[in-house]
Amino acid sequence: MKVTFYGIGYVGLVQAAVLADAGHDVCCVDVDQEKIDKLKEGVIPIYEPGLTALVQENYNQGRLIFTTDAKQGVEFADLQFIAVGTPPDEDGSADLKYVLKVAETIASHMTSNKIIINKSTVPVGTADKVTSHITSRLEARDPRLSFSVVSNPEFLKEGSAVADCQKPDRIIIGTESSEAEEVMRELYAPFNRNREKIIVMDVRSAELTKYAANCMLATKISFMNEMANVAEQVGADIEAVRHGIGSDPRIGYQFIYPGCGYGGSCFPKDVQALIRTTDSLGYESQILKAVESVNYRQKNKLFEYISKHYQLDKNPQAIAGKTFALWGLSFKPNTDDMREAPSRVLLELLWKAGAKVQAFDPEAMEETQRIYGNRVDLTLMGTKEAALANADALVICTEWKNFRAPDFENIKSELAEPVLFDGRNMFEPKILEEKGIQYFSIGRGLSVKGKE
Ligand SMILES: NC(=O)c1ccc[n+]([C@@H]2O[C@H](COP(=O)([O-])OP(=O)(O)OC[C@H]3O[C@@H](n4cnc5c(N)ncnc54)[C@H](O)[C@@H]3O)[C@@H](O)[C@H]2O)c1
Repeated sequence: MKVTFYGIGYVGLVQAAVLADAGHDVCCVDVDQEKIDKLKEGVIPIYEPGLTALVQENYNQGRLIFTTDAKQGVEFADLQFIAVGTPPDEDGSADLKYVLKVAETIASHMTSNKIIINKSTVPVGTADKVTSHITSRLEARDPRLSFSVVSNPEFLKEGSAVADCQKPDRIIIGTESSEAEEVMRELYAPFNRNREKIIVMDVRSAELTKYAANCMLATKISFMNEMANVAEQVGADIEAVRHGIGSDPRIGYQFIYPGCGYGGSCFPKDVQALIRTTDSLGYESQILKAVESVNYRQKNKLFEYISKHYQLDKNPQAIAGKTFALWGLSFKPNTDDMREAPSRVLLELLWKAGAKVQAFDPEAMEETQRIYGNRVDLTLMGTKEAALANADALVICTEWKNFRAPDFENIKSELAEPVLFDGRNMFEPKILEEKGIQYFSIGRGLSVKGKE
C-alpha cells in the first residue's frame, strides 16, 4: 500500500520505516530541510536501537522517500498520516498548530479522496477539528472530494521504538467508517498475525485511550515515588516493598520503579494536557494534578540529598566550586532524548549552587551540548570513568546498562570523597557500605537515615 507521513520525528520516522520494511511504500514529509537532507544521506537524526539499518535498507530499496514537498506527499498516497509534534501550549494544553497546518496542506493539494490518520497524541475532539478544517477549505476548492479522519494513536516507547512498532501490543483504530476500518486493517495486517491486536472504537474513545494509557503509567511512577518518600520517613526500604507488591499479579512489576522522576516528551506533556482538558470542562482531575506535582517534587530529590549531605542549609556555599560527576543525561536509557529529563533539573540546581558538572551519557551528549552550549560549569566526558576524574562526588540520573556493574574501587579512588547519589536505585546499599562508599538512593530509609 502507499502511505504518506507528515512529521519525521521519533514516531513518524520509526513507523514509516517499519511499514516500509513490511513492504508498503512510504513517503516521508518534513518541514525540516536539514533533517530530510541528512536522511537522504543515510544520517539518522535520532538514536533508536535498530533504526539506522532499517531506514537505510528501505531507503536503498526505494520503499522510503524523503521530501519537504508536501504536495508530493499529498499526491503520493490515499493514506495520509499526521505524526507531527503536539507540544504543550503556554497553558499546558496540547498545541495543535502543527496538526492543523498539515490538515490545511492536505486540503489545499488533494485531488482524490483521502483517509487522514491522526497518529500524533491529540486531545479528544481533534479529529472533529481536523475534519472541519479540511471541510471548510475543500468547500471553496472542490466540494466533491471526500475524506475521513481516523484516530490511530501511537504507543511506541523511546529506546525500543522499532521493536514496539514491529510487534505492537495493540493497534487502536478510532473510526466510524467501515471503509476506513477495512483499509487500516489491510495496512496493519503484517503486524496482526499471531493474535488479534486491532481494537476498533469510536474516534473520541481512541483519542482518550492514548492519554489514559500515558496518564496511568505516569500515575504508577508517581505513586511509587510517593511510597518511596513514605518509606524514607518510616525507615522502610522501598525496594523490598516493590518486590512485595509487584508479586501481586493485579499490580505487577512493571512501572513501579522508584526514581528521580519521569521525563521525556510524552508523560509530562500528556498528563498536563489532560489536566487542561478536564479543567476546561469544569471537572477537576485530582489524581492527575497529584501525579504531576509528585513528579515535580521528585525531580528535586537528588539535589535534596546533596543539600542534606553537604548541609547547604547551614552553608549555602558548601558546594560552590565542587565538581560532581554525573552519569546519565537522557530521560531514560537507550535514547538521546533530553526533553524534561530529571538530569536537567539537577544540572540547573547544581549550577545555581555554584557547582561544576562532569557528565557522561552513552548517547545524549550531543543533545546536551545543543541544549546548554559551552559553559564553564559543564564538561562532557568521553567515558563514565573519565567523568570521575578529580570529582567530589558521583550522581546517577539514568539507569544505562553499562552503569550497572561499575568498578567501585575506581569510583572510590577517583572521588575526593566516596559518595554516590543514585536516582535509579541501581545498587545494593549494603554492598556499597561494605565498599566504603556513602550511598544515597531513593526511598531506602535505612541507608539515608544512617547518614544523617
Ligand atoms: N516520542 C514518543 O515516544 C511518542 C510516542 C507516542 C506518541 N508520540 C506523539 O507523536 C507525536 C510526534 O512526536 P515525536 O516525538 O515524533 O515528535 P518530534 O518532535 O520528534 O517530530 C515531529 C516532527 O514534525 C515535523 N513537522 C512539524 N510541522 C510539520 C509540518 N507541517 N509538516 C511536516 N512535518 C512537520 C518537525 O519538523 C519534526 O521533525 C506527538 O504528538 C507525540 O506526543 C510520541
